Amino acid sequence: MSDKANELEQTARTMVETGKGILAIDESSPTIKKRFDTINTESTEESRRAYRDLLITAPGGNEFISGMILYDETIRQSSSDGTPFPRSLIDHGIMPGIKVDTGAKDLAGHPGEKVTEGLDGLRERLAEYRELGAKFAKWRAVITIGDKIPSTACIEANAHALARYAGLCQEAGIVPMVEPEVLMDADNTIERCYEVTEATLKSLFNALNQQDVAIEHTILKVNMVVSGKQCATQAGIQEVADMTVRCLSENVPAELPGIVFLSGGQTPELATAHLNAMNASNNSLPWPLSFSYGRALQEPCLNAWLGKEENVEAAQNALLHREKCNSLACSGKYSEDMESAA
Ligand code: 13P
Repeated sequence: MSDKANELEQTARTMVETGKGILAIDESSPTIKKRFDTINTESTEESRRAYRDLLITAPGGNEFISGMILYDETIRQSSSDGTPFPRSLIDHGIMPGIKVDTGAKDLAGHPGEKVTEGLDGLRERLAEYRELGAKFAKWRAVITIGDKIPSTACIEANAHALARYAGLCQEAGIVPMVEPEVLMDADNTIERCYEVTEATLKSLFNALNQQDVAIEHTILKVNMVVSGKQCATQAGIQEVADMTVRCLSENVPAELPGIVFLSGGQTPELATAHLNAMNASNNSLPWPLSFSYGRALQEPCLNAWLGKEENVEAAQNALLHREKCNSLACSGKYSEDMESAA
């Protein structure tokens, strides 16, 4: 095996190492502003740096977290002691990752649908990110459920872009985390979510094969199969776990090194309970099932921090608690009692 293939294999395997998941801290500036608004904290370069610093340096995080996804601004910032964030992560035994897409934009001719951009200049940006320490990258495609949508055009345009991105990442020695997210905001049933997730995954793996992307050096980040938030009937924990595992088993190749979930607006506790149920009822899946949450790991931490230096320790404790619960959920060993003990 070439040195590059070796490195990609090692990185991919380490990302989904037993009992570990990924912390997504790659909110774009408009998104982190929205999060800070909820705690009445102004979003400035310094407040964003201070917040990411506490997430990155939380003592003991490396027991549960294998990697963190950074944003372009964040990968260039430093901890309070002057250590650049990527170095700080590596010193804490955590791999730096980077979001490389430039956002979901309206898809021409398809009202209500999006296509993710960011391929222009990507080869050069990846080379720079690698210099800065990035070992893996993320690209998020957004699929919206609604009246007569998603269209095949939307699913295929996004799959094509994900495959082009993944090929460029592997060329650069960076593991691509391909993220097709079927949004959970509509009033659809869980069956409809299954159908759309299945169509999205089929199209994605077709496109990856067409572009000769090495599946064994790729990580899938995906939504769980859930009822839309506005749906009157909400599927229970076991049903979500069973439908998600069935959808993945039927549509994801066995040679993929690992699958991680986004939380997509689920409460922190529910996101953990779903992951736990999947792993508790399945012990012979071809890939590890782990987490790569943003909101479901950060929410309690953000609410404990409130933008104040004196709350840093409490915020880090809140983060660590969620990380630990999700780490246990990777082997089906989480229980709800752990929440009241927190
Ligand atoms: P959430 O877990 O908040 O959905 O974010 C994960 C993510 O990285 C979305 O791209």
